Amino acid sequence: MAEVVVVGSTNADLVVEVPRRPSGGETLLGSNLALHPGGKGANQAAASARAGAATRLVGCLGDDDHGAFLRRGLQDAGVDVEHVHTVERPTGTAIILVTPDGENSIVVSPGANSAVDVELVERPDAGWTEASVVVLSMEIPAATVDHVATAAAARGIRVVLNAAPARELPADTLRACDPLIVNEHEARIVLGRDASGFEELARGLLDAGARSVVITLGVDGALVADPDGLHREAGRVVEVVDTTGAGDAFVGAVACELSHGAPLRDAVRFAVAMSAITVGARGAQSSYPDRPVVESLLAGS
Ligand code: RIB
Repeated sequence: MAEVVVVGSTNADLVVEVPRRPSGGETLLGSNLALHPGGKGANQAAASARAGAATRLVGCLGDDDHGAFLRRGLQDAGVDVEHVHTVERPTGTAIILVTPDGENSIVVSPGANSAVDVELVERPDAGWTEASVVVLSMEIPAATVDHVATAAAARGIRVVLNAAPARELPADTLRACDPLIVNEHEARIVLGRDASGFEELARGLLDAGARSVVITLGVDGALVADPDGLHREAGRVVEVVDTTGAGDAFVGAVACELSHGAPLRDAVRFAVAMSAITVGARGAQSSYPDRPVVESLLAGS
């Protein structure tokens, strides 16, 4: 049985390194094109599997070279791909520009990810109903996220929801989140208003119904908010090559740890270490370490 099931997206990441972001109407010369396995759902699944959880991805790929490439990448990471369906749409694609500071700009063409619809996840053999933890993010149709979040919570499955790219969430979806994982920008969108800082954002999201909240703070670590109060997990100083997929590694690592019974604060400590390692190498899944690498970083701190 899968301990963690990710219902989510898969994308072929087409990456070009550029000296800076282009302005409107401008043409820039960049690096050679690199192809990496990506997509928030697939990245989260790969991270969870590498961290040590029996992990399944429920998703859709196209019948094309990118689809075959992504399926192989997931298998290499140890993800169960039995419920990754091949559909008659092109595999999802992300066009990614990476600047010298390691930051990225991303445009996603969803393609086959649009087929991860309510009908697919309602099938009796959909593949997510037996998990300990279900992970969701927002590159699949909104109705699917809302449906799986509420149905999983009603079954007693722990729901980890990463609201990226962000949108406001229906009250029932927010009430299913344990935790909701967002960065500060996403927290404001989900909350539907501004607040005077990340602590107030986290309290606002708890008041709005989330069972627990994690606000990721990049190099500054993360904030955990739950009924026991607020806890700040410090960040780690690392050399940044490429931040693509670091947030997904964090989400997958949290899901793994929760599925093994860790308290949320401990899960976040592990996830901060895992995501810090990923920014030192190029690509998303291609930068994810196996569990012993994360454990030796934690042991040295
Ligand atoms: O979060 C990083 C991911 O966002 C990339 O892998 C890209 O596919 C986009 O989905």
